Amino acid sequence: MEIKLRPKSILVIGGGSGIGLAIAKELLQSGAKDVILASRNLDKLKEASRCLKCGFGQRVFTLSVDITNVQGNMETIKKAQALLGDKSKLDGLVISSGVNFDASNWKGFNLSEADWDRVMDTNLKGVFFFMRDFANYLYENKIKGNICIISSISAHRDMLSPYQISKHCISRIVNAYGKHLCERGVVLNCVEPGPVYTEMMPHLKKYTDGVREGEPWPDASIKRLVRPEEIAKVTCFLMSQLGETMSGDCVVVAGGTKSIFPT
Ligand SMILES: NC(=O)c1ccc[n+]([C@@H]2O[C@H](COP(=O)([O-])OP(=O)(O)OC[C@H]3O[C@@H](n4cnc5c(N)ncnc54)[C@H](OP(=O)(O)O)[C@@H]3O)[C@@H](O)[C@H]2O)c1
Repeated sequence: MEIKLRPKSILVIGGGSGIGLAIAKELLQSGAKDVILASRNLDKLKEASRCLKCGFGQRVFTLSVDITNVQGNMETIKKAQALLGDKSKLDGLVISSGVNFDASNWKGFNLSEADWDRVMDTNLKGVFFFMRDFANYLYENKIKGNICIISSISAHRDMLSPYQISKHCISRIVNAYGKHLCERGVVLNCVEPGPVYTEMMPHLKKYTDGVREGEPWPDASIKRLVRPEEIAKVTCFLMSQLGETMSGDCVVVAGGTKSIFPT
């Protein structure tokens, strides 16, 4: 069976770097007609868009979006649709945006309110409301579409840090809403990556991902980090017509992380 993307014109929030950029590349390789890279830093997005290869008829756009600005969601969706023009309908969303925070502070009750708000507003509140507004937009416009959220394997860890709490909550929200949204033609799933070497995780540079040189990653059965491109392939699967066979699932892509799923 050939796996085909279901949506054709896809907004990728957090698409300017790391996992989000790898997803944008893979969406184009899998036949997306349009990909819109979105995040706060427009210069970074423009730079990222230059490394994406478009085939015949494919287009890449950039859009400035701060996912914490919940009041701006409908305006963002309108702007994304305006970029596409009349001949394409925005019908897919990937949310890969996210922030971590200084790990030295991660276990303490000395966590500041500002750190809590920054992480929760970006990874939980922002993601929830954008997902909600996008799902409503699809339903109101009678568009069948797919949404994929990039959560984290941290969703399964003890909820010691706001990052872990935010990822736990967003994964559970996907489980709950995904089951119901599919009745409205909206397919919602999420990916829970294990550690991946990106700008967010510079300390992982010394470990191999099976392609880059480096030390084995001791916590994964596969003894290496998972690569952004591999997360991207799983995301494209969830954005395909087979995504609806999951509807509300969270797929762990972590090479058999032992500290979470001990044998
Ligand atoms: N790397 C890992 O080990 C790992 C593991 C599990 C899960 N994840 C998750 O994977 C996702 C992607 O992370 P990554 O590793 O690829 O790191 P990354 O390269 O730092 O990507 C995060 C992206 O989020 C965007 N962003 C941050 N705040 C935003 C906001 N308020 N509004 C819109 N965009 C915002 C950033 O762009 P701007 O600065 O331009 O806004 C950036 O492009 C995150 O959700 C992360 O939690 C990562």
